Amino acid sequence: MSVATFDGGTAANFKSEKLVEDIFADLKPGDEANIECYTRHAEKYDEGLCGIQYENPKRFASMAMKHLKTSGVNKLALDICAGTGLMGEELLRQGFKGPVDVIDGNDKMLEVAKKKGIFRHFHTLIITPDTRLAFPDNTYDVVLCGGAFSAGHLRAECLPEFFRILKSGGTFVFNTTNFNEHDEQVTDEDMDVANTVLNDLETRGICKLMESLTCDCFALLSDGFKYKNGMIDLIRCYAKI
Ligand SMILES: C[S@@+](CC[C@H](N)C(=O)[O-])C[C@H]1O[C@@H](n2cnc3c(N)ncnc32)[C@H](O)[C@@H]1O
Repeated sequence: MSVATFDGGTAANFKSEKLVEDIFADLKPGDEANIECYTRHAEKYDEGLCGIQYENPKRFASMAMKHLKTSGVNKLALDICAGTGLMGEELLRQGFKGPVDVIDGNDKMLEVAKKKGIFRHFHTLIITPDTRLAFPDNTYDVVLCGGAFSAGHLRAECLPEFFRILKSGGTFVFNTTNFNEHDEQVTDEDMDVANTVLNDLETRGICKLMESLTCDCFALLSDGFKYKNGMIDLIRCYAKI
């Protein structure tokens, strides 16, 4: 497993750091999806995240493209918990050919994504472990899910459903987040559930881990940033067998 640090650039962008701190301060732990707070942050979300040089979209897209084995020109991608669509946007930037659909439980975030004019279908949906997505088995070549597997967001029990809609040879990239000392959000138990679910899927021959990367996401931000050294991401890329 390789370890990367967040490339925060050279000049601190205090305005963006503040926007990101405001989002984090609003997040609520819990088993249920607790995502209304994104309504307040939707318009400024990209300014905040791009201003602190949020690198995960680049990492996700390059892993997805590198390991993708499906063929054919009409490739399809799905960005789950897409928010404003930063993941899908980067996938297209890195040369993905074909439509990208987006799902999110927050309308305001999807409205911002819609204004970009680059996505095909928009689905407003809160995903729970009981959700069956309205897509047939083996629909998508690439599925991305960034910044969503944490308490008050998306449960790890949803993972099998995301593999169901992925084509054989397709790639699924997602991250799980551990908030270190600011760990009211994510407990080790949440991480254990993700690992158990993934081990089970691998044992049943459904998927195979292709690559993983641990990132100390905010390590290079300014010393005053409240969550500096506070967020460790584990990004994993799986191929469906
Ligand atoms: C931190 S943002 C990440 C957005 C985007 N993927 C990115 O990387 O910039 C989390 C997004 O996931 C959505 N979300 C979280 N839990 C969800 C759930 N259970 N069902 C649907 N959407 C959810 C939120 O509405 C929010 O837009």
